[in-house]
Amino acid sequence: MIFSRITGTGGYLPDRVLTNKDLETMIDTTEQWIESRTGIRERRIAADDEFTVDLAERSALKAVEAAAIEPRAIDLIVVATTTADQVFPSTACLLQQRLGGEGYPAFDVQAVCAGFLFALGVADKFVRTGAARCALVVGAETFSRIIDWTDRRTCVLFGDGAGAVILQAGDRPGVMSTHLHSDGRYKDLLYVPVGVSRNFSKVRAGTAYTTMEGGEVFRWAVTAMSDIIDETVQANGLGKDDIDWLIPHQANIRIINAVGARAKIDPDKVVVTVSRHGNTSAASVPLALDQAVRDGRVQAGHRVLLEGFGGGFAWGSALITM
Ligand code: COA
Repeated sequence: MIFSRITGTGGYLPDRVLTNKDLETMIDTTEQWIESRTGIRERRIAADDEFTVDLAERSALKAVEAAAIEPRAIDLIVVATTTADQVFPSTACLLQQRLGGEGYPAFDVQAVCAGFLFALGVADKFVRTGAARCALVVGAETFSRIIDWTDRRTCVLFGDGAGAVILQAGDRPGVMSTHLHSDGRYKDLLYVPVGVSRNFSKVRAGTAYTTMEGGEVFRWAVTAMSDIIDETVQANGLGKDDIDWLIPHQANIRIINAVGARAKIDPDKVVVTVSRHGNTSAASVPLALDQAVRDGRVQAGHRVLLEGFGGGFAWGSALITM
């Protein structure tokens, strides 16, 4: 049997730091309010001439280096993003050109903050079926571009960044299982109300902004992300004590703590990076994974449960042996 294994991780955050103190000068808020309600201290903002593919490329090159492969070994690129550089070509095609590859499939997936899990789920199936042997899976966002920086209910939450993994074929897992869900009935709780086909003039005017029912999203995120932990361990015939690390979507420390409490996961096993970069949407889970690999918490042989939740609603998980 063929399985896919993560053999390298990478992450990238833009240089510009926007602190809670900075936000005090922009909107009616306080450092204390933001940190106590969200756990976020600062977020990164891409430079005006820095685009999603730039962030994706930086994180991808770090993952390539960590996996000790050449970019030409890659035979599949899946990029999860909500903030593509262009309507088309896909950000994955732009990234393929940067990495000097050609011919193999490269495409984007769109599942907002759950995007990396969806991209990983798709890439894992390519590898398991023999359709790819060395996949690059990226979550990359310039979410700051779809935020209304005068709306204090949303702008304090989000930031820019990218994370990537190399997924290679092997004879043992690796990716043990992936679990993906969507429910479009909740499309009006977290959304950007414009696109190419609808209200495109707002895109042109630069007023395509994220809109959210914060309290409702909070409740759903906690329920979905704690239930999917049970689904994932049960599908593998495991108990929660068999999980070495939980790496949840990094949106809000209170959501992360509530998920851990509801799912009865030891807080010492939960990777938290949200204070440094806020909610980076599809980049959040691979950024946190990369951080935990590089600081030595996640080690070879550890079982890691990744999970994400976002607009759609869409949510997903993956159980991985590193
Ligand atoms: N600074 C100061 N006050 C703020 C504020 C800010 N940045 N944002 C909102 N407030 C105010 C509200 O206007 C409200 O004032 P009011 O009572 O006078 O109306 C008060 O703070 C409380 O607002 P509330 O929405 O009840 O706060 P909360 O504790 O629920 O926290 C969120 C708000 C947005 C932090 C929280 O709902 C949340 O994290 N939701 C999930 C968001 C998310 O993660 N989305 C992405 C998921 S992928």
